[in-house]
Amino acid sequence: MADAPLSRWERGGEKNLGYGRRFAELVSSGADVDGEARLADTLVARRARILDAGSGMGRVAAYLHDRGHRVVAAEPDLSLVEQSRRTYPQVEVLPQDILGLTDEVLSAAGGPAEFDLVVCVGNVIAFVAEGTEVAVLIRLRQLLAPGGRILVGFHLQGGPETARRMTLDQFASEVGEAGLVVEHRFGGYDLRPVDDQYAVWLLCADPDPAR
Ligand SMILES: C[S@@+](CC[C@H](N)C(=O)[O-])C[C@H]1O[C@@H](n2cnc3c(N)ncnc32)[C@H](O)[C@@H]1O
Repeated sequence: MADAPLSRWERGGEKNLGYGRRFAELVSSGADVDGEARLADTLVARRARILDAGSGMGRVAAYLHDRGHRVVAAEPDLSLVEQSRRTYPQVEVLPQDILGLTDEVLSAAGGPAEFDLVVCVGNVIAFVAEGTEVAVLIRLRQLLAPGGRILVGFHLQGGPETARRMTLDQFASEVGEAGLVVEHRFGGYDLRPVDDQYAVWLLCADPDPAR
């Protein structure tokens, strides 16, 4: 079998080390790092099943876990898995890429295998491996429970240099190809209007997907 393609995050190498360091500093200074998670929390009932796909150093998963949700955090970068476990030992992290989140892996982990909400924020969708963009969205759709939704957030301008630059039209076309429908679009996690800087989209499954 051919090796899996490297994600843009892996290709970025040392250029991406700043993320973990910056959030470690923000957390220890008491800064607010919970904007994405506060919005996620409003989107679900109590004790919801939530997947944090590309959970990084764990800030979003930890906030949601601490509010009583059943959270599965998945993160393929082992140095971030280690940082997450050290910073938020209460959160279990699966050392997995989104495409590695098979039904078998999820059931072996003993947590939920389908989700009321998938959180895929902080440019994760712009860091996946080239050529896997639609496959990743399809896998996230397959992981939704009936009525489940996906919260996605990424920079349109001024984002990390190693991430993919996406236009709204490009992402809309990939979303449609993956059998997903756009429920809402905003310009930030505070629900500001759509702008050309940052995209926050809420997606749900197309009831009649082509794939
Ligand atoms: C800027 S970090 C954001 C982390 C976290 N979501 C946050 O907001 O703090 C981008 C993350 O995308 C992850 N990533 C890239 N490709 C991925 C994939 N195919 N599956 C899961 N995570 C992926 C990287 O490992 C990295 O942790």
